[in-house]
Amino acid sequence: MKTILCIGAGYVGGPTMAVIAKHCPEHRIVVADVNEERIQAWKSGPLPIYEPGLDAVIQETRDRNLFFTTDICGNIEAADIIFVSVNTPTKTFGHGAGRAADLQYWEKTARLIRDNSSSDKIVVEKSTLPVKTAEAMHCILESRNDDCHFEVVSNPEFLAEGTAIHDLEEPDRVLIGGGDTERGRAAVRELVALYEHWVPSERIVTTNVWSSELSKLASNAFLAQRVSSINSLSAVCEATDADVDEVARALGMDHRIGSKFLNAGIGFGGSCFKKDILNLVYLCEYYGLQEVARYWEGVIQMNEYQKQRFVGRMMRTMFNTLADKTIAVFGFAFKAQTSDTRDSPAITVCRELLEEKARVVVTDPQALDNAKSALSEVDPENITFEQDPYAAAEGAHAIAVLTPWPEFQELDYEKIYRAMQKPAFIFDGRNVLDQNQLYRIGFNVYPVGKQPLSHV
Ligand code: NAD
Ligand code: UGA
Repeated sequence: MKTILCIGAGYVGGPTMAVIAKHCPEHRIVVADVNEERIQAWKSGPLPIYEPGLDAVIQETRDRNLFFTTDICGNIEAADIIFVSVNTPTKTFGHGAGRAADLQYWEKTARLIRDNSSSDKIVVEKSTLPVKTAEAMHCILESRNDDCHFEVVSNPEFLAEGTAIHDLEEPDRVLIGGGDTERGRAAVRELVALYEHWVPSERIVTTNVWSSELSKLASNAFLAQRVSSINSLSAVCEATDADVDEVARALGMDHRIGSKFLNAGIGFGGSCFKKDILNLVYLCEYYGLQEVARYWEGVIQMNEYQKQRFVGRMMRTMFNTLADKTIAVFGFAFKAQTSDTRDSPAITVCRELLEEKARVVVTDPQALDNAKSALSEVDPENITFEQDPYAAAEGAHAIAVLTPWPEFQELDYEKIYRAMQKPAFIFDGRNVLDQNQLYRIGFNVYPVGKQPLSHV
């Protein structure tokens, strides 16, 4: 029996440890966090994050071999393996502001581990970190000058929100980076043994620490690059007679390109793509690789452009003024099947609509509370949050679909059309609705990367 501690009970720490606890019933897993409210929610529900399938895994493991606590220091000494899964946001101050990762939570955790350990530990980087962070962590941990040994291993997480449990149960790969010493190799073997409880050996990849750290940043950069690439082509499609879905289909049939991550839309969001690319850009600049830095920066620039382009098209279509018009925003989460709104493109779109003096009504099946916090600075006169999509669209001049929730495909659009101002517009920012049917009902339909279906 091993004792595993995870510091950080967020979107990664909670689900990851729950799945490890499920498959390794002989091990005791403790998840610790400074946030008391979050820990209380993990202990007694409702769970602090919405993630399909998570409830069932928590029911099976909680208080069996999975425990949640705010007592971080008190659980360090008993742990054989410590996963660090704290947040690593983009720095907002000082050197590298707006680019580099803010490592303060992470360094504090390293010091806590050092100051509360009197036996050897394996420390696992689960958070996404700049390349060479493990070296810094090692320096802090080893600064005690005693016999206690800390082996730092990189084990980045590749789960996506909304499919976290599936991704953890059946990962494409598990990546483990360790030091090229006897102790380093032993630590890697220990982690491999943990994952082998349910992941086929051929999907467990071991490498050195730096390659592991860089592979995580590179994976997110490649995925985001595909989204920006297809979004850049959506602009070309709108200017010509091409259809972005047809282009994506033709591209995706080439097995060297593949069909995933080619959905054009209003741009990528979430807490990681932008942060991790900025991190990569900062790293390149640090090493004097300006051309490489500019290359990856382009992926973010295209993403910002896509959001502005979407609002610009709404504005032009609706007779060049949005002032005093009501826009029903369908979806605020950064993607479907999550309540997470961190860096959601909906935040930028709503702010730009409000700048144009539109009145905004937001509806979302899971993310309304987070949407309220994300737009807390907005005067309540100008924004309303409405659980019921029919109520949100009542009296609206336009609907903007910003999250591809399947629920939005099931709505009675005849009823919605009757309750809206005329001419009624739909801007399908995720290309998820039946656009021909909407047109037949009477809507003026504006998909992304396609010609509009318009009566005006
Ligand atoms: P999160 O903000 O949901 O959770 C981080 C948790 O760490 C918070 O609950 C916070 O209170 C806690 N914390 C911060 N400092 C602490 C400290 N000193 N001691 C104890 N707890 C502390 O973040 P997340 O989305 O789980 O992401 C965590 C890391 O995993 C990030 O580096 C992120 O880039 C990476 N990642 C995230 C995802 C994802 O889908 N969200 C996927 C893969 C990797
Ligand atoms: C992403 C990666 O997919 C995970 O592998 C990674 O572990 C994680 O980041 C992380 O490091 O945090 P996530 O951000 O949860 O996961 O969600 P994605 O499914 O990647 O979607 C990201 C954004 O891209 C969403 O806003 C989504 O709507 C958008 N997207 C995705 C598109 O606009 N088009 C697509 O074809 C795919």
